Amino acid sequence: EKCRNTFETIFRRSVGTEPEVAQTQGARGDHTGDKDGPKSLYNLMADRQEQAEKSVLISCPSRTSEKRFLKFLSNHGDVKKHFFYESYGVYAVVEFASRDNVVSLLESAAIPGVSHESVVPFKSRLLSLRNHSSVHSPTQQSDLPCQPQTTAPISELIQRLSREESVDDQINSLTEAYQLTEENSRLRFLVCSLLKDVAAAYFPECTIRPFGSSVNGFGKLGCDLDMFLDLDSISGWNVKMPKSGLSLEYQMKRTNSERHVTQSILSVIGECVDHFGPGCVGVQKILNARCPLVRFAHQPSGFQCDLTANNRVAMKSTELLYLYGELDPRVRSLVFTIRCWARAHGVTSSIPGAWITNFALTVMVLFFLQKRAPPIIPKLDYLRDLAGPADESVIEGNDCTFVTDFSKIQLPSNTETLEQLLSDFFEFYATFPFSRMSINIRKGKEQNKLEVTPLHIQNPFETSLNVSKNVNSSQLDRFVALCQESAWLLQQSENRTPRGVGGDNTPTPWGLATLLLPSQVAGIKGRKKRKREPASERIKSLLESLKNKNEGRKSQDS
Ligand code: CTP
Ligand code: MG
Repeated sequence: EKCRNTFETIFRRSVGTEPEVAQTQGARGDHTGDKDGPKSLYNLMADRQEQAEKSVLISCPSRTSEKRFLKFLSNHGDVKKHFFYESYGVYAVVEFASRDNVVSLLESAAIPGVSHESVVPFKSRLLSLRNHSSVHSPTQQSDLPCQPQTTAPISELIQRLSREESVDDQINSLTEAYQLTEENSRLRFLVCSLLKDVAAAYFPECTIRPFGSSVNGFGKLGCDLDMFLDLDSISGWNVKMPKSGLSLEYQMKRTNSERHVTQSILSVIGECVDHFGPGCVGVQKILNARCPLVRFAHQPSGFQCDLTANNRVAMKSTELLYLYGELDPRVRSLVFTIRCWARAHGVTSSIPGAWITNFALTVMVLFFLQKRAPPIIPKLDYLRDLAGPADESVIEGNDCTFVTDFSKIQLPSNTETLEQLLSDFFEFYATFPFSRMSINIRKGKEQNKLEVTPLHIQNPFETSLNVSKNVNSSQLDRFVALCQESAWLLQQSENRTPRGVGGDNTPTPWGLATLLLPSQVAGIKGRKKRKREPASERIKSLLESLKNKNEGRKSQDS
């Protein structure tokens, strides 16, 4: 039963496949289509990739009629799914029943006629709808219902949370508001598929897969799109040579370093994306990084994209995070809440620097959940011990093996509420001996720190690496000070129950909502400089600041 529920949740959430599909599978009695237990993230991603291959992205002029548009599309085949969203104009994602329908649609499309410019004649599945009707009705309004692809501003979130009845409801509400939607997940896979068409100019059999928060279950609407160019089907790494008889092999150029191969592949694909990729702008090749990448913005989707190659360990850590997120619903909720809290206080940032990253923060939450009594999630070594022969995976000498069959994982019963966990998370890290200890989710236990870095979080698979090597001591101090403040705020009795609405009908912040208000300790450099005001004063000023913000917004609106 647990396994089935888990599987259905997997389907609906992280990769966002529609509930109908999950139910159909459920009705069959098995949830996998095969006898090997629940489908892996990899198989679920394959389903999403297949949908993306049958999809196109179309820019629609304002005043497009949805009905007319669908009628036009149906000339080429059945439309299985479509939706609209806004990003520098309105776009439609359209999934057809088959790839042939897409071919038919593309065959009907024209090359743009331009008089003063030249076009790069690269045809892709990114199209523009043109309306040639001679009669334009000025009164005709666009009836396109757009699906949001970004989160609402934090002030709206604070109001939404303040209306909830319990801290647990607040945490669930935040998760609901921030997680990727079905549509956003489809769009991510479609962008990967469009880029694959560009990369296929060099490597026709390649695949481009999303990894990181786009698929690990912890992605927030608007998060970046991490992609990896998968050449495994070409690089021969799975091919078995016959033991006898004749066989052929390709002659291939050889170099003395795998890193060099990765850099040159990304370099040419970066050029290709830059010169020929429709909608791709601001292409930067960052080839000397530890993990070489090409960074660019995909304008039609609004995604900031990082394209890497030969990055199989990151795919494994994505799978691991995904598994942890699916073992217990409290894991995702707590990670979303802490990530949101951290962003609200500038603990994390979209700009690279000495801040804690979302990935590091997620590992910290996982570690905290492993340390509960009884633990809410198991240590990685336990997951490795449960692995069968099919799960075995060694990448560049790193043991990346762990069980993929969820049903083998036994969890002791832990019934702690989210409120309790949130409050204890802050206390745990407010007092954690960062100067002596390293965070280690493989062992589920802190280890003596061997390096002199302020924050040491062992990379779960590349165990010699520190996930938070970039973090400096002032950023760590800020994190600790904010944990102390938030633990304290959650303990105040006035913060523990709903506080009703004010005169202007705005709900008064309480519980989790107060933790997202501007902090009193945010500007400090070190823990020693911290100063506490009396509780009532502090809450009063926090509320004042929200009220001012609301007033500011209202005057802007009017
Ligand atoms: N990664 C890693 N080690 C790091 C940083 C990243 O192994 N020091 C891997 C992780 O699998 C991570 C992925 O690369 O999930 C993508 O990194 P990043 O985009 O920084 O993190 P996300 O988890 O995608 O979070 P965000 O929403 O901030 O993009
Ligand atoms: Mg990312």
